Amino acid sequence: MKSIAVFNNKGGVGKTTFLCNLAASLSHHEGKKVLIVDADPQCNATQYMFDDATVDEIYEKAGFTILDVVKPLAQGKGFVKTLHARTSKSFKVDVIPGDPGMSLEEDRLASDWVQAAGGDIRGLRTTFLFSQLLSQCTNYDYVFFDMGPSLGSINRAVLVAVDGFVTPMSTDIFSVRAIDNISLSLSTWKKKLERALEDIGESVTDLEIENPSWRLQFVGYLTQQYTAKKVRSDIQPVRAFDKIAKKIPLRIEKQLISHFTKKQRPSSKFNLGSIPTLNSLIPLAQSAHTPIFALKASDGVVGAHFSKVKEYEEIIRDVVKCFESQVGALL
Ligand SMILES: Nc1ncnc2c1ncn2[C@@H]1O[C@H](COP(=O)(O)OP(=O)(O)O)[C@@H](O)[C@H]1O
Ligand SMILES: [Mg+2]
Repeated sequence: MKSIAVFNNKGGVGKTTFLCNLAASLSHHEGKKVLIVDADPQCNATQYMFDDATVDEIYEKAGFTILDVVKPLAQGKGFVKTLHARTSKSFKVDVIPGDPGMSLEEDRLASDWVQAAGGDIRGLRTTFLFSQLLSQCTNYDYVFFDMGPSLGSINRAVLVAVDGFVTPMSTDIFSVRAIDNISLSLSTWKKKLERALEDIGESVTDLEIENPSWRLQFVGYLTQQYTAKKVRSDIQPVRAFDKIAKKIPLRIEKQLISHFTKKQRPSSKFNLGSIPTLNSLIPLAQSAHTPIFALKASDGVVGAHFSKVKEYEEIIRDVVKCFESQVGALL
């Protein structure tokens, strides 16, 4: 099993949409067994993969959510014994639904991190809570985490636990700048965690975590496709994007590949692909609670949309190939 976070501290760059479709493609096309953990208090992945009645049932009838994993530990009741994942039939993946209540856990995890950095065992136990969750997920090929757009304590706990991360980004100067912020935060967390583990020495067994360490590696990035063609007046905007797009690979190499990979690998392999702008296919897929590549006429697809659906299927399958080759080589 490999655990992967889809992360960028910038919001609205298509993380959730991409993650759900990548996971669905791994399951539909490659026959992989996939679990998605929705760690974003906004619960967008949960809302995308389940119909409204199921989402209502989860929250009104207190169904099992990520909060059931986090709360017992935070209250000193230890790690949760059994996980209850729900299956999204259309995506063919299992899901631990998100929970809006997670936003209230952010502060508690933040103070536990301060304790952990000081070498406190209880603080370290909560810091590693997702490692414990992952140790119960060995029957999956992949476990993905969807995350909110922040460098806060929930996301830190996810990144402490997973094997690798993928970063979707848009072509703007904010995304280029965000690469620096991600790199700086990860380096600081890594240092603090490694020092805390050194400080506790022999007491490490009290954590009840197998081989607690910083393991996170950078797996790759995706960009938003911005190519407008044919129409003459579009040439200028494309050139304008180009200037920014050219900065991305170098910045990724300097800030992420060089610090967060343990094996030599050509930088070009970290570019997992480019996602097209899909306009109305996105709301159609959201309303049908289905992967974009599985959209049908009965979901409202008409005319030229069909070729867009096919085109997206080819793109996401190519991304899956690049992604699996990176995971195989690095993790
Ligand atoms: N490929 C795409 N083409 C057009 N719109 C998209 C695409 N991917 C996502 N969107 C839209 O952009 C917005 C942000 O996407 P989302 O996946 O929620 O991003 P994030 O998780 O990074 O906040 C949503 O309104 C979504 O519908
Ligand atoms: Mg999201």
